[in-house]
Amino acid sequence: MMRDFDFVGWLSQTMGKGPWKCRCGVAIDHPGVCDPCGEKLAREQAEAPVRTAVESIPPRFRWARFDAEQLRERVRPVAAVQQAIEATDLLSSIGQSVVIIGPAGSGKTSLACAILRAVAMRRGGHAWRCRFAAALEIGAARGAYGTRSPLESDAIAASCLLLDDVGQETEADRIHIAEVLHARHDAERPTIVTSAFEPPVIHARYGGGVDRRIFEGASLIFVGGQHV
Ligand SMILES: Nc1ncnc2c1ncn2[C@@H]1O[C@H](COP(=O)(O)OP(=O)(O)OP(=O)(O)O)[C@@H](O)[C@H]1O
Ligand SMILES: [Mg+2]
Ligand SMILES: [Zn+2]
Repeated sequence: MMRDFDFVGWLSQTMGKGPWKCRCGVAIDHPGVCDPCGEKLAREQAEAPVRTAVESIPPRFRWARFDAEQLRERVRPVAAVQQAIEATDLLSSIGQSVVIIGPAGSGKTSLACAILRAVAMRRGGHAWRCRFAAALEIGAARGAYGTRSPLESDAIAASCLLLDDVGQETEADRIHIAEVLHARHDAERPTIVTSAFEPPVIHARYGGGVDRRIFEGASLIFVGGQHV
């Protein structure tokens, strides 16, 4: 059997004897960092994937979270916020997708960002990436020589994707949105879709295949307008 490696002995040989100083300035009796700094570093490392997810949310919507007062002011009706909290539970636990429909300015993106953030806090990690993506940008992105654009590939690969404002893209770009929705559906990855278009319009625009992949088994939340 291998003998335990004499770590302390090795350290004192290679690093010389103390006193040592932590990066925070505190004196410590070993090389490296003090206990509080070590804990802080470990916490930051664990939070990094969640931070990356939150940073994918546009700065304008970084405020959006379920415990933010503004969410109840900017999203109408307020009942939609409760529906979104329930949808978040279903997304985090069984991977159920979410669709948020409503007219311009009704709070779709705000609500969707609050969901994405909550999911990232609960499920996010190195193995479970949450991402925000604007449908317009994915639609307009082109990969080299007809391959998928990095943006599109990333949208397909994300464990949980917020695909914002589906339906605004040009007819020529629509294929890329359809492709993302198809691939994610095939891989059983949950997607949070927001759209200013009612289900029949989405159906007419994308056809039954995409339509079914968006709505089937998803939590459907209507905000603003005639649904108040
Ligand atoms: N950072 C912000 N500062 C001020 N007001 C904001 C901010 N973010 C959102 N709002 C307001 O909250 C309301 C909801 O906005 P949100 O963008 O979520 O709606 P939306 O349904 O996604 O709109 P659109 O159809 O234009 O994408 C709007 O009145 C908007 O002006
Ligand atoms: Mg929006
Ligand atoms: Zn320290």
